[in-house]
Amino acid sequence: MQILDGKIASQSVKEQLAAEVHQLLAAGNRAPHLAAILVGSNGASETYVASKVKNCAEIGFESTLIRLNADVSEEELLNTIRQLNEDPKIDGILVQLPLPKHISEPKVIETISAEKDVDGFHPVSVGRLVQGLETFIPATPYGIMLMLEHYKIPTKGKHAVVIGRSNIVGRPMSVLLSSNHPYGNCTVTICHSHTPDLAAVCRQGDIIVAALGKPEFVTADMVKEGAIIIDVGITRVEDATAKKGFRIKGDVAFDQVSPKASYITPVPGGVGLMTIAGLMKNTLVAYKRTLQ
Ligand code: GUN
Repeated sequence: MQILDGKIASQSVKEQLAAEVHQLLAAGNRAPHLAAILVGSNGASETYVASKVKNCAEIGFESTLIRLNADVSEEELLNTIRQLNEDPKIDGILVQLPLPKHISEPKVIETISAEKDVDGFHPVSVGRLVQGLETFIPATPYGIMLMLEHYKIPTKGKHAVVIGRSNIVGRPMSVLLSSNHPYGNCTVTICHSHTPDLAAVCRQGDIIVAALGKPEFVTADMVKEGAIIIDVGITRVEDATAKKGFRIKGDVAFDQVSPKASYITPVPGGVGLMTIAGLMKNTLVAYKRTLQ
């Protein structure tokens, strides 16, 4: 069993990005600039956005964090996005999800200019992904593909079972793994809450991508010997003995599943770090288009 280490793989991507930014700056260009909007103060969202901002600084990107109160009106949020769309100094825009219930996420996503949609959630980006056209790939599935690439894990002809059909992970992941490219060409099954005998389906998977957000859902009996296990879960589970009062748990019961796996991503230290690498790559692409 080999651990797929997100720290090592994301560091490698970030070093490439930092080198490219260094060259662009040396040639007299401005730095790439990501704008992140955080509505309210959800603990997990705060952590993710802080990490995105920190990673921008590490590789030489500029970033702007816009904080809005949880009771901000939908119109005010949409207007903030429209201003960023018009701002030539901003290359990428992300609105951290989830949003408060009174705000329509689809409306927010559609208001972000497709040219600055570095999260890859805009219907134009999704449509292009499905058609195999160049696009912004949603950061988490993109990060997983970068992880497979870093460790040179062959995927062609394998049966990939994706658990979860979210727009953020499951659905785009299923498209990427089935696409015709070096780390695709899988036969893909996408499972969800209405899949009968999900364990039996999982046992057919040469690759399992667990992205349903249920801590330790995937147990050893659901996994074929030698499977490649990609754990996308990052749920905070209360634990009075932990320093912060919670522990981060993946969707895979790591201790029992890892002895059966050929490769497995840990949580934390796996896919989460790759998500940021994917976002940074998208931001650099958006920026480079403005130079042309
Ligand atoms: N919430 C959970 N994952 C993501 C992500 O990749 N992007 C944004 N904007 N929000 C998220």
